[in-house]
Amino acid sequence: MTIQFLLFSFLVFLFNNGASSYVPSQDLTSNSLAEAPSFHTRYHPNSDEQDVFNVDDYGAKADGTDDREAFKGAWEAACNSTADTTVLLVPRNKTYLLRPLVFNGPCEAKSVTVKIKGNLKAPSDRSDWSNYWIKFRYVKHLTVKGGGKLDGSGQIWWQHSCKINRTLPCTDAPTALMFYQCKHLRVSNLTSKDSQQIHVVFSHCSHVEALHLTIRAPLWSPNTDGIHLTSTRNMKISDCFIGTGDDCISIVNGSKHVHVNNIVCGPGHGISIGSLGANNSRAHVSNVHVEKATLIGTTNGVRIKTWQGGHGYAKNIHFQDIFMCNVSNPIIINQNYCDSKIPCYQQNSAVAVREVTFKNIRGTSATDISVNFNCSSTVPCKHIELEDISLVSSDTFTSSSSCINVNSTESGSVFPSCNTKRN
Ligand SMILES: *[C@@H]1O[C@H](CO)[C@@H](O)[C@H](O)[C@H]1NC(C)=O
Ligand SMILES: *[C@@H]1O[C@H](CO)[C@@H](O)[C@H](O)[C@H]1NC(C)=O
Ligand SMILES: *[C@@H]1O[C@H](CO)[C@@H](O)[C@H](O)[C@H]1NC(C)=O
Ligand SMILES: *[C@@H]1O[C@H](CO)[C@@H](O)[C@H](O)[C@H]1NC(C)=O
Ligand SMILES: *[C@@H]1O[C@H](CO)[C@@H](O)[C@H](O)[C@H]1NC(C)=O
Ligand SMILES: *[C@@H]1O[C@H](CO)[C@@H](O)[C@H](O)[C@H]1NC(C)=O
Ligand SMILES: *[C@@H]1O[C@H](CO)[C@@H](O)[C@H](O)[C@H]1NC(C)=O
Ligand SMILES: *[C@@H]1O[C@H](CO)[C@@H](O)[C@H](O)[C@H]1NC(C)=O
Ligand SMILES: *[C@@H]1O[C@H](CO)[C@@H](O)[C@H](O)[C@H]1NC(C)=O
Repeated sequence: MTIQFLLFSFLVFLFNNGASSYVPSQDLTSNSLAEAPSFHTRYHPNSDEQDVFNVDDYGAKADGTDDREAFKGAWEAACNSTADTTVLLVPRNKTYLLRPLVFNGPCEAKSVTVKIKGNLKAPSDRSDWSNYWIKFRYVKHLTVKGGGKLDGSGQIWWQHSCKINRTLPCTDAPTALMFYQCKHLRVSNLTSKDSQQIHVVFSHCSHVEALHLTIRAPLWSPNTDGIHLTSTRNMKISDCFIGTGDDCISIVNGSKHVHVNNIVCGPGHGISIGSLGANNSRAHVSNVHVEKATLIGTTNGVRIKTWQGGHGYAKNIHFQDIFMCNVSNPIIINQNYCDSKIPCYQQNSAVAVREVTFKNIRGTSATDISVNFNCSSTVPCKHIELEDISLVSSDTFTSSSSCINVNSTESGSVFPSCNTKRN
């Protein structure tokens, strides 16, 4: 562990020599505030009418019994307060057991802050569940922060996953923290641990910031994606540590204008656009920028994955300033993705993949193929650019590319190159 950490620190140091820092700082620096887009929750300056609703005052006991009713009561009061700014407070140093809970909007208050200083814990039984553990729905100008921890008690769900026990049928487990149709949302300074399935989902949200989040689940935990975006627009994700059993960040259909900045990912499956186009569906993802990321021991680095038979596009996607440490597929586009018990068959339509750039991506690969473009024969990848790439295998200190149905353009120094065929 220590040696790995030292190695990692050393590599980060080497990589950062002369470049800006790739490791998120745990403090919310003035710099990151200055860079924050202006779309997050607006406070009303000089407002003394910041009403605080403490869950303890609504009967929360933090004694291992279910505190859901107290949280509901405090939310109703905070959400429907006539004060401009209200705070729902979860006090520090306490652990509240919560059964699945929805925080519904719209609210009367102009903005609501949920300050989670203490810990929230999910019950470790699987009865009486929905597809979420904690869900915010239809809330505008919402801030969720506080330095607290959400513990999804996921082990019981993982054991019952068909990916762990192959004799069991495949069923979904809840998302730990879900935001649905929220606008002007800021989620910061929280830890999510051992989610039942996905840690944090943003679905049909817009003008969102997610920052200073720490997400942890074991490598073997099934489908525990870190941050998942679906139909979400104008989103910024920055300064997060994510180590989990599935994608650190996954961005699927209906999402656009997404900026991902300063992320450390590992273990996990990397940063993914997709999967898109399953079951012949139409998918649109565009304007995604992933900048400054460090991936450590992940199965993929930066990836676009689409199923055969889909429609639509993934376009205008940029990956830049990324450091890979022993990543199995550092750069990968797979238009023949198939994550199904039944083999996928050859189909003529595909989700188009175009205008994708990979710039300043360096480090080591755990396999010999570090650039892999497995594009569709009927809808080949278009306008794929590689610039300043240096990826070698951690074992052999060399590596190669596999580039099918794509003509990439290359500039700067690109190794391995797509243009010199290896076979
Ligand atoms: C707020 O008040 C409205 C109108 O009375 C009500 O419909 C809504 O359910 C309340 N919201 C909450 C969270 O209690
Ligand atoms: C919380 O715990 C810390 C460390 O145990 C202690 O210093 C602090 O006073 C406690 N805070 C409250 C509000 O109880
Ligand atoms: C996170 O929350 C804790 C507790 O509220 C606070 O002390 C700390 O300053 C916050 N950190 C950031 C980066 O906002
Ligand atoms: C897998 O599930 C089956 C059916 O529920 C059960 O009998 C078996 O003990 C499980 N195996 C493991 C390793 O948990
Ligand atoms: C894809 O996203 C768009 C925009 O949110 C939505 O209208 C459409 O229904 C989604 N398609 C699928 C297959 O989910
Ligand atoms: C595709 O459709 C089948 C049948 O409706 C369903 O079982 C399967 O989960 C779907 N696959 C995906 C990836 O949505
Ligand atoms: C392309 O991807 C498919 C599905 O993952 C795989 O079966 C196939 O071997 C890949 N082709 C190459 C050349 O890697
Ligand atoms: C790289 O990763 C592979 C498989 O993920 C592992 O077997 C190997 O020990 C790792 N190498 C280093 C140098 O960490
Ligand atoms: C790549 O370029 C060659 C030569 O211009 C062309 O024949 C081929 O069709 C192109 N392939 C793709 C996948 O665009």
